Amino acid sequence: MVNDNIYLIGLMGVGKTTIGKQLAKALAMPFYDSDKAIKDSTGVDIPTIFEFEGEEGFRVREAKMIEKLTQLQGIVMATGGGAILREENRNHLKENGFIVYLHCSIDRILERTRRDTQRPLLKTDNPRKCLQQLLEERQPLYLSCADIKIDTGVLRTKTVIKQILEAYSARKQGHEDVKG
Ligand code: S3P
Repeated sequence: MVNDNIYLIGLMGVGKTTIGKQLAKALAMPFYDSDKAIKDSTGVDIPTIFEFEGEEGFRVREAKMIEKLTQLQGIVMATGGGAILREENRNHLKENGFIVYLHCSIDRILERTRRDTQRPLLKTDNPRKCLQQLLEERQPLYLSCADIKIDTGVLRTKTVIKQILEAYSARKQGHEDVKG
């Protein structure tokens, strides 16, 4: 970890944005959400980008946004669930920040995303199956990037934040000790 950034990764609906905002507040650091940044830069929502450019078009925009946002220093950033799919994104994240992998059960994700209209990948007859497949494909990638893994399904938000803060400051301390 070179810079003082914290990046949140994990499947949609695990709580990256909610946790990220509170974590940023606790650290008095600015909060970024890569999906929101894409929305703001294009002026349209994520489903519209999927509709007109397909998932591939969205991934190109996402990669450009991750490259841009990982150049910032001292931020907390929630990434889209698929941001770890591209190797270039994984490298940018790993090189520039402390990576927190948030996860919870598929049941919990389904509960949280039940009324969601903003996640095109879940617009299917069988969102459970879709999430199971995504988890199977992505879990190795999430784990390969993560500095820590935290279950947001069983722990209270306050506890999740406390665990992230402890792990982050232990890591920072370790780096400072090495530097002398
Ligand atoms: C996606 C997750 C979404 C968003 C897009 C694709 C994915 O972000 O980037 O719909 O591939 O898992 P959230 O994880 O914030 O829902």
